[in-house]
Amino acid sequence: MGPIGLIDGRIVADLSEKLVEMEDRGYQFGDGVYEVTPVFNGRCFGLQRHMERLFRSLREMRITVGYSAEDLYGYHERLIQESGIVDAGIYLQITRGFAPRNHNFPDNAAPRLTMTVRPIPPSLLQYIETGAEAIVVPDLRWLRCDIKSLNLLGNVFAKEQAKEAGVFEAIQVRDGAVTEGSSTNFFAVKDGVLRTHPLSNLILQGVTRTIVVDELAPKLGLKVVEEPFGVDFATNADEAFVTGSLCNVTPITGLDGRPVGDGRIGPVTRQLVEAFTALVGQACPKG
Ligand SMILES: Cc1ncc(COP(=O)(O)O)c(C=O)c1O
Repeated sequence: MGPIGLIDGRIVADLSEKLVEMEDRGYQFGDGVYEVTPVFNGRCFGLQRHMERLFRSLREMRITVGYSAEDLYGYHERLIQESGIVDAGIYLQITRGFAPRNHNFPDNAAPRLTMTVRPIPPSLLQYIETGAEAIVVPDLRWLRCDIKSLNLLGNVFAKEQAKEAGVFEAIQVRDGAVTEGSSTNFFAVKDGVLRTHPLSNLILQGVTRTIVVDELAPKLGLKVVEEPFGVDFATNADEAFVTGSLCNVTPITGLDGRPVGDGRIGPVTRQLVEAFTALVGQACPKG
């Protein structure tokens, strides 16, 4: 079956149906938050972590919702069951609701929940096996990149630049430090040690990043250094990779037109790709 949606708890079979108000604040201000949870073999992967991050984003945005995490788990299950899609991305968005346009938070707007389920584009997953190229771009985003908000213009510009350069991802740099990809976290590997930007307001705490740093690296005996580093360090790394819910661990074999290391997928990245793939194979409903 094809993609379907859900709005405030109700299944929507036709995604072109017009159901959201003209003065919804998500539409007018990007005033809302979102999550994307992957589904492998008909089961959500990392759903609990995604919902915890969603509720954190909502708190930071001061949006209060009537849904519990259990309600949202249920909606994810319904979308999988009713769509019949087994390898999917489930997109969930909550806006502050609709109100006459005014920058200030409205007093009585009801937050609006919309969700969609779609197959994961095979083009995303193919790079896990082949490796992908990336470019380096300036990080133009605001200073609360830790909130998964709908304000994605900087990310959109970066991803578009990657497309125009004919590569998979754009790696962003702020004040000389490599922050993250347009929709991924970035890791460089030097002398067997993983290095990635520390958690701060300047990056999103990726669920996939957390799994790599807290679970897979310790299990494989790999050291992780969460400290800022520059473009030179990244371009001179032995290996590099990005992490994200719809691309798992994807090797980056070329940066700005130059090979990373010998331009092939390195041994550390390969170990992580395999460990992550094994984990995804055991995906459980709320795991
Ligand atoms: C800016 C940014 N960084 C990192 C990520 C990766 O996060 P996750 O692993 O939770 O998908 C995303 C995912 O959308 C993102 O948009």
